Amino acid sequence: MLETNMTFRQFLLHDYRNEGLEKDLVFLLEDIATACAIISNHVRDGAFKGNLGVAGSTNIQGEDQKQLDVIADEEFIRHCSNCSRVAALVSEEVDEVHWLKKETKAGDYIVYFDPLDGSSNLDVNLSVGSIFSIVQIAEPIDTSTDASVLIKGSKQICAGYSVYGPSTSLVITTGHSVNGFTHQQGTGEFRLTFKDMTIPETTSEFAINASRYRLWDEPIRAYFDECLAGVDGARGSNTNMRWTASMVADIHRILTRGGVFLYPMDEGNRATGGKLRLMYEANPMGFIVEQAGGSASTGTQRILDVTPTSHHQRVPVIMGSKDEVARIDAFHGKS
Ligand code: AHG
Ligand code: MN
Ligand code: MN
Ligand code: MN
Repeated sequence: MLETNMTFRQFLLHDYRNEGLEKDLVFLLEDIATACAIISNHVRDGAFKGNLGVAGSTNIQGEDQKQLDVIADEEFIRHCSNCSRVAALVSEEVDEVHWLKKETKAGDYIVYFDPLDGSSNLDVNLSVGSIFSIVQIAEPIDTSTDASVLIKGSKQICAGYSVYGPSTSLVITTGHSVNGFTHQQGTGEFRLTFKDMTIPETTSEFAINASRYRLWDEPIRAYFDECLAGVDGARGSNTNMRWTASMVADIHRILTRGGVFLYPMDEGNRATGGKLRLMYEANPMGFIVEQAGGSASTGTQRILDVTPTSHHQRVPVIMGSKDEVARIDAFHGKS
């Protein structure tokens, strides 16, 4: 039985005994939880250490890196390298795949991560977080080419995120249900505080950066117009809007009380296929959202079915309450 307040280790051992979670995955997830606790500490200490600003470098995404983007990336790499079954680490902040093994074995893991999500919120003291995704390879892969990590989201065996907000939370799925933990400062443990998180199927709350309205394609404009029309429009009911500029925080809210999150492809990001990254943001969050009873779509396709063509690939993202995602899919002509 999953008991409220049980430690993350107790939870993982429960999964190990009852759900066949591999021992090495238990260790890897504990290491990731440690990395998140340490990153959370770096974020809270940022103002003292003068770490909240830019690093003076640009990442492969063309973004100015924050010092904490780089620090968080180093923590992920350091902690995920402990596990001898990890073949490769793939990060939003690093151009190339970081291969830990030359020879891989069937059953080895690949870890994909966004070490710090929402990093533009750092200097204004709003929520940020980390996102990770784990894929298990079915057979040995060729480590001489980065193309070997291009594996569909539907193959994930685990995904999770941590939010560094008023408290630090860790939410994970190992492919059956979604559970949320809160970092308890006194004990230093992540403890189970949100059991079996589920997303209500219907919602009246949406999250989108509406300043991009002029850049959107017709289906997104039509959906948005209908939301704004409220009781006076075809929807027949009023809506509410939230946008935190941090995907982890927006998705965490949706996992808690429902809603839909959209970052569509638009005229401003069409050249790159969208803004959010398939392997570090859309896939892990899509897996978690589906496991919690929601849906994750590009508007025309299930996110987890997208075949990756590059590890830094971007995609349009629409995810959250099932009925709302279906409504937006319908605007795109998808049934
Ligand atoms: P990151 O900080 O990892 O680069 O991701 C930022 C993402 C995502 O968290 C958020 O939803 C979105 O960018 C915000 O974009 P806008 O600034 O365009 O609103
Ligand atoms: Mn970034
Ligand atoms: Mn991000
Ligand atoms: Mn990031």
